Amino acid sequence: MNLESHLIASLFEGIFLFDAQARLLRTNPSGERILGRSERALAGTPADDLFSENPELAELVRVSLEESRALVHSGLEYVSAGGKVMHLSVSVSPLQEPDGTIIGAALLVRDETMLKDIDRSRRRADQLATLEVMNLGMAHEIKNPLGGIKGAAQLLKSDLGEDSPLLEYSDVILREVDRIDGLLEGLLAAHPKGEVHFEELNIHEVLNEVLNLLELSGETSDLKFSRLFDPSLPAIRGDRNGLTQVFLNLLKNAVEASPPGSEVIVRTLIPVGTPRGHLISTGARPKGGVLEVDVMDLGKGFDPAAGEFPAPFFTTKPKGVGLGLAITEQIIRNHEGAMVLDNREGGGALVRVFLPLNKGD
Ligand SMILES: Nc1ncnc2c1ncn2[C@@H]1O[C@H](COP(=O)(O)OP(=O)(O)OP(=O)(O)O)[C@@H](O)[C@H]1O
Ligand SMILES: [Mg+2]
Repeated sequence: MNLESHLIASLFEGIFLFDAQARLLRTNPSGERILGRSERALAGTPADDLFSENPELAELVRVSLEESRALVHSGLEYVSAGGKVMHLSVSVSPLQEPDGTIIGAALLVRDETMLKDIDRSRRRADQLATLEVMNLGMAHEIKNPLGGIKGAAQLLKSDLGEDSPLLEYSDVILREVDRIDGLLEGLLAAHPKGEVHFEELNIHEVLNEVLNLLELSGETSDLKFSRLFDPSLPAIRGDRNGLTQVFLNLLKNAVEASPPGSEVIVRTLIPVGTPRGHLISTGARPKGGVLEVDVMDLGKGFDPAAGEFPAPFFTTKPKGVGLGLAITEQIIRNHEGAMVLDNREGGGALVRVFLPLNKGD
């Protein structure tokens, strides 16, 4: 292959070369991916048939040939052969002989869906970085005066005597202080500079521990927890406390979303192919493969109207704080893993956690 052919073959953009009658002469692998068919199968096909589902594209080629001018179009919604909607930006230029005769047109197509995913992931990382600064600074600053309040409330309580009607108030203070304290612990736990200890561990041990905890709590007695574990999964290197927190947060969300009497499923597997979801958070993609843990419920699922990945402090729950997913994602990123939020086809949320198999090697 010569340099030009190499260049065309490896371009991220799809290239379509048409003759003067708008019939396809050539395309490249990106173009084949966009059309879902091979160059060989498509050569000679008129633009109208090639883009029968997306007539704007055929129209651009035709206008460019007829009027001998270049055209650009961005934000074009394209329905691929598989029914997937892609966002494309396209440009088409006429190909001319030196004497001005039109001999064809070149259509350049860029799939912006992928760029959008990358952009979204970058924005997400920014959000988490902000959260991390808050973790460090605020959690620390709040914990100290909180200790003072707690101590004072305990002194008050001991001074009040067994049957004082004011006892109720001191108990409220103590309980709420504990709640804030728990929240701050959560924030600090998500921080990589906190107590993080990587060790070899069996992910099923962590999952069983969290599931047992939930089953024993008594608040989930009307729910069925199903474990679909792949027993052949290898051990991973991970932070046991962090991962416990991850699956506790995800399972709590699943429980909170579940209608009474329904089922929460935890599944482990070695995934095939690249993880994609409509709400995607891309972490690192490790070389040595990943294992996947899915947490599924039969609730209403994530609300697509709420946008992309819920931002830190986004909550739809009266008593929610909106930090569960942000903390979860931070811990997973510290493991160089990734998390994908999705909905199941039959309804209900599907959260997919990917953890590298070779962490620390
Ligand atoms: N399994 C799920 N099904 C449907 N929606 C979910 C699910 N998990 C999370 N969500 C949505 O994402 C929001 C954010 O979740 P997140 O865990 O971050 O915070 P929270 O559960 O509201 O509060 P907390 O800080 O106590 O966890 C939830 O309020 C809910 O709207
Ligand atoms: Mg939550």
